[in-house]
Amino acid sequence: MRRSSFVIAALAAMLVIGVACAPAPTAVPPTPVPTTAPPTAPPPPTPVPATTAPTPAPTTAPTVAPTTPPTPAPTTAPTAAPTTAGQADASTLVALSTTTAPKLEALADDPGWARAQALTIKVSGGQNLTAGATTATLKAVYTTDTIYFLLQYDDPTNSVRRSPFVKQADGTWKKLTDPDDKGGDNNKYYEDKFAFIWTINNSIKGFDTAGCFAACHAGEPGKPYGNKYTNAPGETGDIWHMKTVRTGTVGQVDDQFLDDTKYNKDTAPEAGRKSDANTGGGYKDIVLKDGKPEFMNKDAKPANAGGTYWLKDADKVAFDDAKFKANDDVASILVAPYQGDRGEIPAAMAWKDGKWTFAFSRKLVTGSKTDVQFDNLNSTYLFGFAIFDNAQVRHAYNTGALRLRFSGATAVPTGPATTAATTAATRAATPGAGVPKAIPVNHVGRPQCLICHLTGVAGAPKVAAAPDHTAFKDETAVCMACHVQAK
Ligand code: HEC
Ligand code: HEC
Repeated sequence: MRRSSFVIAALAAMLVIGVACAPAPTAVPPTPVPTTAPPTAPPPPTPVPATTAPTPAPTTAPTVAPTTPPTPAPTTAPTAAPTTAGQADASTLVALSTTTAPKLEALADDPGWARAQALTIKVSGGQNLTAGATTATLKAVYTTDTIYFLLQYDDPTNSVRRSPFVKQADGTWKKLTDPDDKGGDNNKYYEDKFAFIWTINNSIKGFDTAGCFAACHAGEPGKPYGNKYTNAPGETGDIWHMKTVRTGTVGQVDDQFLDDTKYNKDTAPEAGRKSDANTGGGYKDIVLKDGKPEFMNKDAKPANAGGTYWLKDADKVAFDDAKFKANDDVASILVAPYQGDRGEIPAAMAWKDGKWTFAFSRKLVTGSKTDVQFDNLNSTYLFGFAIFDNAQVRHAYNTGALRLRFSGATAVPTGPATTAATTAATRAATPGAGVPKAIPVNHVGRPQCLICHLTGVAGAPKVAAAPDHTAFKDETAVCMACHVQAK
């Protein structure tokens, strides 16, 4: 009781103060959501029985002779699925089992993503973006040892001009700063970022209802946008912090963590936000030495004329002032991939036509104390998510907790996803298959199907091997190309 009243009081305080590490939107307090999905299901599908390790998909076509001719394909286009998805579904990302790891560099073009169901995450309340808000879609697939994510969202600007050094008319160099920045609050010359926070071992109290708000402390002196730290020793989070200029350019998400360290302007200016250990590499500020940047790119191109706003360590040479004229920009950050614990999230990214796309991965189990361990695929993992558009701390956020579950499904074949339009052909080409049964009335509103029917969890009858149901996209409309909805 003390705990929940604390959380409520903290949220109320944020509403009043209006400035927090993630202030609540005025009308939408985080709604507690049930920990199992989907809500309309009679028996909840979690926990998946411990024995449901992914079973291998059938690799051969059934050999039985056709006993009944395949029923004619439906002549009408399948009707759209009912859209009454409940809260738990709307906040749950289901990672699909796959035998083929998607290639990160292929980004959204990798065929491995096609069958994964996207989680839509609305974020708002940040600086910049369009009215401070955007909508992200997130997909996940996993192999026996690694989980892969595909993240996309609209951001009208690719913000790369992260406080460069600018050559002045008088030949001196000055770092470009946001004139309104009163400390740690750059919203003009920064970079695009996103961040996940996962509870490690479900240790952060209140996270299941409040999400990242559980670690958000508004109204503390010294910080314009609140502080982030957990409330008690032992409550720790895993932070995955994509910094597009500082770590994205070297193919990584910064692997950090969160503990209960309170803000102190001298000893803990970052409060509970900390970085995983590293054994080398990483980003570093370039300093002015004798009034000039210490390094430049060996190509000597100004960042605003064909160069970059970051300097890869391998490209750095001693600075040559003669190469630059007034108003030239030069990178102020030296970048190299982290080695060790901090560098365990490889990533690829691209910004195109007002949209960011990121693909990144992590080993299911790293063994590090400062990482979430996806070591129980029958478990549900809570996370929060934020997007930063050219903003150091003022991120757009969603309220409440998001959830990751593992499908425990059989292998997902590669190749283009089967859509409702192509299922009829598949069916005609599946001799030997019986007549598909009607979808029970109590199913109306379920947005996903294979979550139960591939594994047979919660007493669901398992899908047929022929036709190969693992090839179907997990959408009601696809299923309804063959299974009619009982009235
Ligand atoms: C929460 C788990 C769950 C989800 C999600 C689910 N089902 Fe079911 N399904 C069941 C269970 C349990 C049954 C057994 C009958 C019942 O409980 O109504 C069943 C029965 C069925 C049957 C009848 C099978 C038979 O032998 O009569 C069909 C067809 C079916 N489901 C299709 C679907 C489709 C299509 C979807 C997606 C819209 C879906 N199911 C989503 C659990 C689920
Ligand atoms: C191309 C047609 C087709 C599509 C699309 C299809 N199914 Fe089926 N399904 C069948 C056939 C045919 C059977 C029966 C096989 C048998 O009994 O030999 C079947 C069997 C099943 C069964 C076992 C119970 C039963 O009806 O015999 C479940 C459960 C099921 N399907 C669920 C789904 C779900 C969920 C989807 C959507 C992801 C889906 N099906 C998509 C054709 C299809």
